[in-house]
Amino acid sequence: MRSIAFASLVAASAFGVGAITWSATPFTPAAVPLAVRSPYLSAWLPQGAGNALNDIWPQFWTGNSILGWAGFAKVDGSAYVWMGSPSVPNTTFSKATQKSLKWTSTQSIFVMTAGPVDLTITFLSPVEPNDFVNQSLPLSYYSISAASNDGKSHEVQVYVDISGEWVTGTSNPLINWSTTGSTGVITHQVQIANPIAFSEVNDRIQDGAVYHSTLNVTGTTYQTGQDIVVRALFINNGILANTQDTNFRPTSTNWPIFAFAHDFGAVTDSPATPVVYSVGHSRKNAVQYIILNNGRQVQSSYFWTRFSTMADAISSFLGDYNNAVTRANQFDNAVSNDANRVSSDYASLVALSVRQTFGAIEITVPQHSDGSFDTSNVLTFMKQMRDASVNTVDVIYPSWPLFLYTNATIGKSLIMPLLQYQTSGQYPNRWCVHDMGSNYPNATGHNDGLDTKMPIEESGNMVIMALSYAQRTDDLSWLKTYFAILDQWTQFLIADSLIPQNQLSTDVFAGPLANQTNLAIKGIVGIQAMAEIARATGDTGRYTNYSTLAASYVKQWQQFATSSTGSHLTLSYGDNDSWGMTYNLYADKLLGTNASESPLDPIHILLMLSLYSDWSIWTAATTTRSDVRDQIISAVVKYAADGKNSLPLSDWYDTIAGTQADPSSNYARPVVGGHLALLALQGVQNISSPDGSGSGNPTTSSGSPKPTSGSVHRWQYTATAVSSAFFIAAFTVGFVDYLL
Ligand SMILES: *[C@@H]1O[C@H](CO)[C@@H](O)[C@H](O)[C@H]1NC(C)=O
Ligand SMILES: *[C@@H]1O[C@H](CO)[C@@H](O)[C@H](O)[C@H]1NC(C)=O
Ligand SMILES: *[C@@H]1O[C@H](CO)[C@@H](O)[C@H](O)[C@H]1NC(C)=O
Ligand SMILES: *[C@@H]1O[C@H](CO)[C@@H](O)[C@H](O)[C@H]1NC(C)=O
Ligand SMILES: *[C@@H]1O[C@H](CO)[C@@H](O)[C@H](O)[C@H]1NC(C)=O
Ligand SMILES: *[C@@H]1O[C@H](CO)[C@@H](O)[C@H](O)[C@H]1NC(C)=O
Ligand SMILES: *[C@@H]1O[C@H](CO)[C@@H](O)[C@H](O)[C@H]1NC(C)=O
Ligand SMILES: *[C@@H]1O[C@H](CO)[C@@H](O)[C@H](O)[C@H]1NC(C)=O
Ligand SMILES: *[C@@H]1O[C@H](CO)[C@@H](O)[C@H](O)[C@H]1NC(C)=O
Ligand SMILES: *[C@@H]1O[C@H](CO)[C@@H](O)[C@H](O)[C@H]1NC(C)=O
Ligand SMILES: *[C@@H]1O[C@H](CO)[C@@H](O)[C@H](O)[C@H]1NC(C)=O
Repeated sequence: MRSIAFASLVAASAFGVGAITWSATPFTPAAVPLAVRSPYLSAWLPQGAGNALNDIWPQFWTGNSILGWAGFAKVDGSAYVWMGSPSVPNTTFSKATQKSLKWTSTQSIFVMTAGPVDLTITFLSPVEPNDFVNQSLPLSYYSISAASNDGKSHEVQVYVDISGEWVTGTSNPLINWSTTGSTGVITHQVQIANPIAFSEVNDRIQDGAVYHSTLNVTGTTYQTGQDIVVRALFINNGILANTQDTNFRPTSTNWPIFAFAHDFGAVTDSPATPVVYSVGHSRKNAVQYIILNNGRQVQSSYFWTRFSTMADAISSFLGDYNNAVTRANQFDNAVSNDANRVSSDYASLVALSVRQTFGAIEITVPQHSDGSFDTSNVLTFMKQMRDASVNTVDVIYPSWPLFLYTNATIGKSLIMPLLQYQTSGQYPNRWCVHDMGSNYPNATGHNDGLDTKMPIEESGNMVIMALSYAQRTDDLSWLKTYFAILDQWTQFLIADSLIPQNQLSTDVFAGPLANQTNLAIKGIVGIQAMAEIARATGDTGRYTNYSTLAASYVKQWQQFATSSTGSHLTLSYGDNDSWGMTYNLYADKLLGTNASESPLDPIHILLMLSLYSDWSIWTAATTTRSDVRDQIISAVVKYAADGKNSLPLSDWYDTIAGTQADPSSNYARPVVGGHLALLALQGVQNISSPDGSGSGNPTTSSGSPKPTSGSVHRWQYTATAVSSAFFIAAFTVGFVDYLL
C-alpha cells in the first residue's frame, strides 16, 4: 500500500498550478469567496488551476449554477470587461488583464488592468460576530476604485449588473422586479413571483428577494432590461438610461438584468473614491422551528430587530462602508496575527475558512404575538451544505473552534435548538438526536426517532460543547436549565462508550463499526465533561462519581486501544493493523479535562488515503511537536492550494491525488471552522473556581481571544520509538505530497 502510494505521489507532483499570469496572495484557492454571507447568499469564483475574474461567471456554492454578475469599464471611450463572461453582439470591447488577487478572512481583492487604468475591486463579506445584527445581515459589499497606471489622467466610467439567477437556480419560474431610489440609495429588488416559504429548489430558497444597491452619488445611473441591450448601451455610451423594464419574465427569457453605471470623471494616479455596491438575499421568515406539541415557530433573521425594512438595512449598510472596511481590516489582522504565531500556512488556511463557515449559518429570533422580537431566545441555524440537514451535531462540533475563537455565544445559540427540542420530550431516543431536521430551513426535529443514528458521537459532542462554551463565558445558568438532558446523554455515555456498540460515527467512510477507539475516547471525555459541569453547578457527588468513572475508563481504553506492538492507536479495539485518527483527544485538550494521558500518535495519519482537513488540524492541535504540527498543516494547505479543485473548499480529500475525495459531497461545508482548532485552545476559565481563574480571556482589538503563549505546547508528546522511527522513515523516502 505504501509503495503504491509513493509511486502515485511522484506522478501527481508533476502537475502544478497552471500558468496563472497574476499574483495570488496567499495562494490560489479552489474557489474565491465573492459574496458569502448565508446559505442563500453564496457567490464564488471557481479556480481550478486559476480563473481571472473575467474568465468565467461566478457560481453559487453548489458549483453547478451560474450567478450572472458582469462588470465593464470605459477608459477614454474604450470598453473593457473586467468581470464575468458576457458576450454582447455588435459591440467592441477588450478584456481587462488581471494583475493580482489577494484574499483575507473577510475580503477578496482583485486588481484588473483596463488599458491605462487599474481597477481595484474589493469584495467584502463582513464577519462581525460580536454584533448579531451585523452578522445576520445577508448583504455583502463590493467596491470599485480606479487609478491611472501611466501617470496621465483618464476619463473612466464603470458598470455592473446582476441577473435573475441570483433568485432562482432554474430558468422556469416567473420573476419580477422593481427599482426604487432616493437621494441616498438606489436598489434593484428581484424576486420569484410565486414564492414558497421554507422551500428549496437546487439549494435555492424559493422565498425572499435579491437586492442590488448603490449609493446615489453624483454620476450614478441605473437600468433594468435585457442583458445585451443594457450592456450594449453602456459599452457604447458609458451611461445608462435610468429606465425600468416591467415586462416580467423568467430569468432566461431575454435575460433581464439589474444594472448600475458610475462616472468617475477624470482619474489620476491617486485612486478615486471607490464606488460602493451591495448585493444581498433576504427573506422575512427564515426558519421554521419545532416547539412544544409538534408546533411550529417562525424564526426571523436577527437583523430585523433593528431594521423594519430592507431599505433601512441597506441604507445603513452602504452608509457604513468606510467603517466596515476599517473593522474588517482589524478583524483580518487580528486573526492573521494570532494564526501566524503558528505558521504562515496556518494563517492562510484559517483565512480561507472563516467566510465559508459563517456563510452556512443564520442567526434568528422568534416573534412575539404583537410582532415584536424575542431577543432573549437567539437561535442560530446551520445548513450542512451539500446535504440540507439543519444543525447537524457532528457538523456543528467540527466547526466549533471558529465560534469559540470569535464569539462563543454564537456557539451556544447553535446548540440551543437541540437542547430546547430534546428537553421538550418529543424526541424518543435516550441519546442525542443527529440533527434538527433533514431539510433546511425546516428545523422540525425527528419525532419519529428515525434520524441518522450516531449515539455516542452526538451525545459526547453536546456535553463537550456545553462545557467548553461555559469555560469561555462563565455563563452557567443555562447549564442548570439543561442539566437533566445533558445528564441523560451522559448516562448513555456511561453505559456505552467504553465498549461502543456497532454504530456510525462522523467517520462515515469507515461505515458502522463496533469498538471504535476514537469514538470511545469522545464518550469518555464527555463523561469527564459532565463531571465538570456537575462540579460547576454544585453537584459534587456527581462530579466525584463521574470523574472516578472516567479515570477508570481511560485506563481500560488505553489497553483496548493500543495495537499489540504498542506503536499506535487502532481504528477499533484489537484490530492491530488498523490506524485510527484520534482527533477526539482534541476535546480533552480543549476542555483541559485531562481524561487521557495516552501517548498520542498523530503520525499515523501518514497512512490514510483520504483525510478530513478539519480532523487533521484537530490532530495537529494535540501534538506538542511543532514540527509534526507544521507538517500536518502544510499538507492540508498543499491540498487547498494545489489547483486541482474548483468548488468551495472540501474538507475531505484524497491524499494521493490531492483532489476532493468525493466530487459530490463534503465541499462548502461549515466544518472548515475546525481549522481554527489551534486558535480555540485559549481563554479557558476554571468555571469551578469562584474567581474564574484560568488562562483568562484577553481579547484583541477584534474582540477575538488572544492566544496565551505556548498554549499549543501544553501537552507532552510521547511518541513511541516505533512510531518515531516510522515518522523518520516516512520523511526520508519522500512520502510527502499531500500527506506530509
Ligand atoms: C447585430 O447586427 C446585425 C447586423 O446589423 C443585426 O442583424 C443583428 O440583429 C444585431 N444583433 C443585435 C443583438 O443587435
Ligand atoms: C458575542 O455577541 C453578543 C451578542 O452580540 C455580545 O453581547 C457579546 O459581547 C459577544 N461576546 C464577545 C466575547 O464579544
Ligand atoms: C455594526 O454595524 C454598525 C453600522 O450599521 C456599526 O456602527 C457598528 O459598529 C457595527 N458593530 C460592530 C460590533 O462591528
Ligand atoms: C438620485 O439622487 C438625485 C439627486 O438627489 C435624484 O434627483 C434622483 O431622483 C435619485 N435617483 C433615484 C433613482 O432616486
Ligand atoms: C412581485 O411578486 C411578489 C410576490 O408574489 C409580489 O408581492 C410583488 O407585488 C410583485 N411585484 C411586482 C412589481 O409585481
Ligand atoms: C418545509 O416545510 C414546508 C411545509 O411546512 C414545505 O412546504 C417545504 O417544502 C419544506 N421545505 C423543504 C426544504 O423541504
Ligand atoms: C469490543 O471490545 C471488547 C474489549 O476488548 C471485547 O470484549 C468485545 O468482544 C469487542 N466487541 C466486538 C464486537 O468486537
Ligand atoms: C455516586 O455513586 C454511588 C455509588 O454507586 C451512588 O450510591 C451515589 O448515588 C452516586 N451519586 C450520584 C450523585 O450520582
Ligand atoms: C492483536 O494483538 C493481540 C496481542 O498480540 C492479540 O491478543 C489479538 O488477538 C490481536 N488481534 C487481532 C484481531 O489479531
Ligand atoms: C490538566 O493538566 C494540566 C497540565 O498538566 C493542568 O494544568 C490542569 O490543571 C489539569 N486539569 C485538570 C482538570 O486536572
Ligand atoms: C478549578 O477550581 C476548583 C475550585 O477552586 C479547584 O478545586 C480546581 O483544582 C481548579 N481546576 C483547575 C484545573 O485549575
